[in-house]
Amino acid sequence: MAIQISLFNHKGGVSKTTTAFNLGWMLAEKGKRVLLADCDPQCNLTGMVLGYKGTEDLARIYESGSVRNIRDGLAPAFESRPAPIEPVDCEPIAGQPNMFLIPGHIGLAEYEVTLGIAQELAGSLVTLQNLPGSISHLFQITATKYNIDYILVDMSPSLGSINQNLLMTSDFFLVPMATDYFSVMATVSLASVLPKWKAWSQKAQNIAELQRATYPFPKINPKFLGTVIQKYRLRKENTPSGAFQEWIAEIEEGVKNKLIPALSASDMLMSHGAYKSIGIEIGKPLLQMSDFNGLIALSQKHKVPVFGLSDSQIGQTGVVLERTKKSMNKFRDLFSAAADKVIQLTNYADSN
Ligand SMILES: Nc1ncnc2c1ncn2[C@@H]1O[C@H](COP(=O)(O)OP(=O)(O)OP(=O)(O)O)[C@@H](O)[C@H]1O
Ligand SMILES: [Mg+2]
Repeated sequence: MAIQISLFNHKGGVSKTTTAFNLGWMLAEKGKRVLLADCDPQCNLTGMVLGYKGTEDLARIYESGSVRNIRDGLAPAFESRPAPIEPVDCEPIAGQPNMFLIPGHIGLAEYEVTLGIAQELAGSLVTLQNLPGSISHLFQITATKYNIDYILVDMSPSLGSINQNLLMTSDFFLVPMATDYFSVMATVSLASVLPKWKAWSQKAQNIAELQRATYPFPKINPKFLGTVIQKYRLRKENTPSGAFQEWIAEIEEGVKNKLIPALSASDMLMSHGAYKSIGIEIGKPLLQMSDFNGLIALSQKHKVPVFGLSDSQIGQTGVVLERTKKSMNKFRDLFSAAADKVIQLTNYADSN
């Protein structure tokens, strides 16, 4: 079975999509087969990977007749069609043969309410019994088709029923954070929401109707891998590095004193030994990045990770090029170390 990792924070703009793409690429460079699942109706990941400039360009994967995106993949279950769910025909990723994409679809948002009802009624309505296990089923059969090791799930910034389902059917989750007040607040709200979602999934796992369904609700106990903290500002302002440090300290406090205890009480943490084995102290991030600066625009333009730009893609010469490459290599080292930690932690679970 492929290992499913979701990237979740209901706070928007914290680098969930960017991290999914860059970390996924690094895992793929290390020989892992990676499936990116774009589960955000905004479809930013799909746009980033495939370089779509407008909705017209999406027509090819939306109107081809075969199953080529997340919504069409789920349609048999959500639209009560007699046909079974089939694996998605994924998009290959130029320059990275080990990585594939399940494209997003704006229409996924239309399934939010139905799934919410299905999850609340917890099996009592026959027509909705297949829904809670359907997304996980779609991912796993698609992963089998492409011989995938890791499924990385990019989520929308919301606390809706789709995210509840995605997170609770993931083996592991990462929580991306930005260095601001909202991310500090998010440690508090996640500490309250995640235990509720866990309690729901425990209940769902014990409902006979959901287990007998065509797509049984999987018995998964998601574990927290860690946070990913990005030091950047969306607004154009020069933030003194001291301000970033203060926010990081506050986030770490929030994670240590609010989030971790809540996750611990809900059995959503790995053992202390697991985190210790990769050198993460309680509350500290699995990955901390500074601002990508000019690299992010080049990365998006060329559809390659921030650490994978060629000299000609960078388009500079001499000392300027050397400086950019130095910064790029710094990000390469950081993503490489983070990918190693992810591999180690997810295997630690296997061997314990
Ligand atoms: N380390 C970074 N340095 C500079 N810019 C970054 C960095 N990480 C992400 N960004 C930029 O910040 C913006 C938000 O990032 P991204 O879209 O990955 O966040 P998100 O959490 O997926 O957002 P949403 O909640 O809307 O899905 C993007 O424009 C992205 O290019
Ligand atoms: Mg996003």
